[in-house]
Amino acid sequence: MSDPRARIIRGRILSFVGAPRLAGPRAMPVVEDGAVLMENGRIAAVGEAAATIAKAPAGAAVDDHAGKLVTAGFIDTHIHYPQTRVIASYGAQLLEWLQKYTFVEEQRLRDRGHAEVVARFFLDELFRQGTTTAMVYCTVHPESVDAFFEEALKRGARMIAGKVMMDRNAPPGLMDDPRRGYDESKALIARWRGRGRLDYAVTPRFAVTSSEAQLEAAGALLRETPGAYMQTHLDENVAEIAFVKQQFPWAASYLAVYERYGLLGRRSVFGHCIHLERSEVAAMAASGSVAAFCPTSNLFLGSGLFDMKRLDENGVRISLATDVGGGTSYSMLQTANEAYKVLQMGGQSWPAVQAFYQMTLGNARALGLEDRIGSIREGLEADIVVLDARATPAMAHRMDSVAGDLAEELFILMMMGDDRAVRQTYVAGRPVKDAPA
Ligand code: GUN
Ligand code: ZN
Repeated sequence: MSDPRARIIRGRILSFVGAPRLAGPRAMPVVEDGAVLMENGRIAAVGEAAATIAKAPAGAAVDDHAGKLVTAGFIDTHIHYPQTRVIASYGAQLLEWLQKYTFVEEQRLRDRGHAEVVARFFLDELFRQGTTTAMVYCTVHPESVDAFFEEALKRGARMIAGKVMMDRNAPPGLMDDPRRGYDESKALIARWRGRGRLDYAVTPRFAVTSSEAQLEAAGALLRETPGAYMQTHLDENVAEIAFVKQQFPWAASYLAVYERYGLLGRRSVFGHCIHLERSEVAAMAASGSVAAFCPTSNLFLGSGLFDMKRLDENGVRISLATDVGGGTSYSMLQTANEAYKVLQMGGQSWPAVQAFYQMTLGNARALGLEDRIGSIREGLEADIVVLDARATPAMAHRMDSVAGDLAEELFILMMMGDDRAVRQTYVAGRPVKDAPA
């Protein structure tokens, strides 16, 4: 649902045209007194405020955010919508955490009514945090996928999601079988792909919970659905890796299991990728697969430290993600904060401009969506966030010592900012922060 009425956002416009690491300051032109004109869900014009406002039709709404930063909406490339009531569950690492908390809660999404309540909460929360697109795991139940897509469609949001396929090592209430997993996924693809701004991700949860026959079926779904995404987990936790090696003794590595079934590629997003062997790094790079860095989750579950430098130097495509409910915050700003600290632990640096690039255009590129979202450019979809680096007393106090340095302001936003720093979020041209859906 886009807003048919023209709307103008006035503020400091900050939009990436390239990766700052490669293009330097040219990657991020800023218009200090700028405006964005949005019509029919798209960006109709962007530039200096006076010139852009002059292009607006009579009666256009004007949202004056003068002085505030206006950027593309954030993109979260790995998140579990059924885990809104799992977030902050105490004291376990991955495999125990799944059994003790996650698999218990996910069974409740068998109930369509409950799934609808959770989907509504989830999308409200993403929008409050400035996230406008996400790549989302549902549960094994097709009802959970229907509930999610229906709500996303109603809101006109660009979302990618899929039914989790899992047929072993889980409670009976959370398992399908290879045939059913295939049939249900196939029907969901037919029902939802391409409606509104929705797309589908074939979602074998991870090698631990899928039989070889099921992974084979996931590969078939991908081959039969050109352009569809694939999402799964990889090399997150040491005990998980040992378990996968035990289950697939023929495989040279964890990733080799997925490779065997044709699950690698430019539209494949692998969550975590912490403990990759050299051959896995090479296979990720050669296939153009994406490694999703989930810092709050990796710290919370004690999984390990993501090595961005190693993956980057070896040509692996990288994205940033929350992984709620293993992750502890819906905020991409807070996710960037924790990413910075994880990289510090490995002696790596991560300037704020690179973090903001990653949350917007970088993640759009990781999903192959840079021609639709991720920057503020004429013709792109009008998914935009307005940020206030003085949102809290402590932030305002800190900002008092900043003399017009944008990089420093962005760093303060990423280290101290959260939903309070999000003044407004626009999805398809419509203000949605704290707005009734
Ligand atoms: N591996 C398999 N399933 C999950 C999940 O739900 N969360 C995380 N963090 N890792 C997983
Ligand atoms: Zn995950």
